[in-house]
Amino acid sequence: MTSKLFWFIFITSVIAITAFTVLEDNFEDEDDNDIDVHGRREGKILFPFVSIVRFANVECSSSSTMNGTCLARRECNNLNGTITGTCASRRGRCCIVSRSCGATTNVNNTYFTSPGYPSAYAGGQACSIIVNRCNSNVCQLRIDFLDLVLAQPDGDGICNTDSISITGGNTVVPLLCGDNTGQTLFVDFNGNTAITITVTATLATTFSRRWNIQLTQLGCDCPGIAPNGCLQYYTGMTGTINSFNYGTAANTALSASLVTGTRQIANLNYGICIRMEAGFCGIQYAQSASSVFSFTVTGDVEGADNTVLGTAVGAVNGAACTTDFVVIPNPVITATGVPVNTDRFCGLGFVPVQSNAKPFVLYVVTNGNEGVTATTPPDVANRGFSLTYTQVAC
Ligand SMILES: *[C@@H]1O[C@H](CO)[C@@H](O)[C@H](O)[C@H]1NC(C)=O
Ligand SMILES: *[C@@H]1O[C@H](CO)[C@@H](O)[C@H](O)[C@H]1NC(C)=O
Ligand SMILES: *[C@@H]1O[C@H](CO)[C@@H](O)[C@H](O)[C@H]1NC(C)=O
Repeated sequence: MTSKLFWFIFITSVIAITAFTVLEDNFEDEDDNDIDVHGRREGKILFPFVSIVRFANVECSSSSTMNGTCLARRECNNLNGTITGTCASRRGRCCIVSRSCGATTNVNNTYFTSPGYPSAYAGGQACSIIVNRCNSNVCQLRIDFLDLVLAQPDGDGICNTDSISITGGNTVVPLLCGDNTGQTLFVDFNGNTAITITVTATLATTFSRRWNIQLTQLGCDCPGIAPNGCLQYYTGMTGTINSFNYGTAANTALSASLVTGTRQIANLNYGICIRMEAGFCGIQYAQSASSVFSFTVTGDVEGADNTVLGTAVGAVNGAACTTDFVVIPNPVITATGVPVNTDRFCGLGFVPVQSNAKPFVLYVVTNGNEGVTATTPPDVANRGFSLTYTQVAC
């Protein structure tokens, strides 16, 4: 009898304590419940007075340089994220996941920054981040260079002081350096293989380098995904496409033959895709009007004056373009409709053209030497290109 009473009291106590603990957890975590399933869900009543509230893990804006994801507080803490405010009617926390050298991440919208960002980084050992897919339905990594300032290439276009490499994906990414703020890359995942981004920055070369790179994981069915293999992807009826490290100021490094160096990066070979908008059948390209340097791809910029730079006189196409050039398939001269009969463009100017070949792709090719010792013509102080595009209605 005493023994039965003992067990009754014991078991009742255990149940009471357990129940109390569960309730306490739920009170504490009122805005913290697990939200591992994406999408909108309704609040669910578990106990008459404790409701589990769920919300979508959407992007939330926080600062000018980084946006967060709306997560439960506990989830953000588990990710070592930074909470910047509330979201989802104050039930969620706007959570920024920012990582630097040596990190591994599988979190969507991770920011990869230089050590001490936004302060300048002096350089040192190679700084890498390894990006794993957040789930098996992710096909592509969108890499936004929100801020990317590295040392310029040497005067011959080789990234041998600083560089950023992106490996492990199915899309071939050239070695890049210099000023690339605002550029966006799309890299296909190769199955479950991680994509590794490595910034190499030479400590011995004094330079105020810094980076803040947003890494967005795109599902295979995501409307924002680029066609396979397109390193860059533009949408919209009009836009401006800049080559990597395009800029209107000269590279201060001298080339091997001691003339002004190039901003154009060596060894490029990639495609830029432009989404055909509904009701549009053709695409026109023109060099940006803002600078006479906006199409300086081969030749001697310093030996040319403004009667040549950015004009039809400076423009070269066809068989004369063998080292560095852009490819536009089957174009006609925009002004006259006359066929160009070649798809290669180089030189120091660009005559506007229209292409009706689909899909809309612009290819960029440079060889291994952007200096004066390059094969004819010599390259001096080229800046690359800034081309505007305009889609043409059917
Ligand atoms: C943050 O989100 C806002 C609104 O969605 C957007 O305009 C802005 O470009 C985003 N910023 C970053 C750094 O993604
Ligand atoms: C969070 O930081 C702790 C302590 O530094 C570390 O042990 C843990 O692995 C980190 N978690 C993540 C997801 O980065
Ligand atoms: C990652 O976040 C972006 C919004 O910033 C969203 O469009 C995308 O679908 C998310 N990816 C996954 C796999 O949920």
